[in-house]
Amino acid sequence: MVIGAGGLLGQYVAAEASVLGHEVLGTFHETSVPSSAFETTRLDITESHEVDAVLKRFAPDAVVLTSAMTNVDLCERNPSKAWAVNAEGTLNVALACSSTGARLLYVSTDYVFSGVKGAPYLEFESPEPQSVYARTKLEGERVTMDASTRNAVCRISVLYGWNRVSRKQNFITWIIDSLRKGKEVPLFFDQIASPTYAPHCAKVIVRLLENNSRGMFHASGPDCVSRYDIGLAVAKTFGLDKALIKRVATNESDLIAKRPHCSCLDVGKVEGELNMKMLTLEDGLIDMRSTEDRK
Ligand SMILES: NC(=O)c1ccc[n+]([C@@H]2O[C@H](COP(=O)([O-])OP(=O)(O)OC[C@H]3O[C@@H](n4cnc5c(N)ncnc54)[C@H](OP(=O)(O)O)[C@@H]3O)[C@@H](O)[C@H]2O)c1
Repeated sequence: MVIGAGGLLGQYVAAEASVLGHEVLGTFHETSVPSSAFETTRLDITESHEVDAVLKRFAPDAVVLTSAMTNVDLCERNPSKAWAVNAEGTLNVALACSSTGARLLYVSTDYVFSGVKGAPYLEFESPEPQSVYARTKLEGERVTMDASTRNAVCRISVLYGWNRVSRKQNFITWIIDSLRKGKEVPLFFDQIASPTYAPHCAKVIVRLLENNSRGMFHASGPDCVSRYDIGLAVAKTFGLDKALIKRVATNESDLIAKRPHCSCLDVGKVEGELNMKMLTLEDGLIDMRSTEDRK
């Protein structure tokens, strides 16, 4: 069962599991998900009775929770809604999984870290969330891990890829779109992270479940790059004008929520667990360029 199959990551997780022959139920919230490949149903994770009913009916072996309130500044402005979705919503799912015997894999974020270390974080290092979004996601991690030792958490960072379900942009599609329109793109040189290609991350998530892996994993790409350098890599791969990319500092912006300076994730553990390499930004962008027509 994939909760949030209308989101960027959820759409790829549902498709990957389905292609591999798993029986899939994909849930959506407001935007419906058209799919002939798997069953879909509407679900609001803040409604515990709905969560209980769907889990009882479908009786999944495993649940992947990708749904969240993901707009970091909106969470800062509306902390009670952020808490209701990201923390209490996760608790509702974790409780329903425990009572039906399903394993839960929860998708979390690099933003749980303060970013002051200046190097990639390992799974066991202490989180120090700097924003409402990060605190509510950390609570989601806690309830997932406390609910069952069979559960898993995958932290990811700067998720990107073509959105085949909705018109919602992500960081990289926004850069491509802006450069194609000849617009200037201001990008932070002092926010450094590990971009995560949604189609590849989906494969990793399904393999972790097939492998019965449990515990905490960093499942991002292996790079540790600034948002400015991501922009330059996008311009290079897509043959766009890099002169439109402007190097800016976080303190020149009007962002509401505090962002970590360097929230890169060390992916050695997941690579060892699955005996596979995580996909680099360069390879993710090349794959995006060659698959754009499938949109
Ligand atoms: N995007 C990133 O750069 C990034 C970075 C690190 C970690 N993550 C984490 O990765 C996960 C996936 O991110 P994403 O970018 O794929 O997310 P996304 O595209 O923003 O999708 C989030 C999904 O959550 C659904 N949702 C919101 N409120 C809900 C509710 N009350 N009940 C059920 N579903 C609800 C949304 O449905 P509606 O739109 O219909 O409301 C949407 O389909 C999230 O957990 C996020 O915290 C993302």
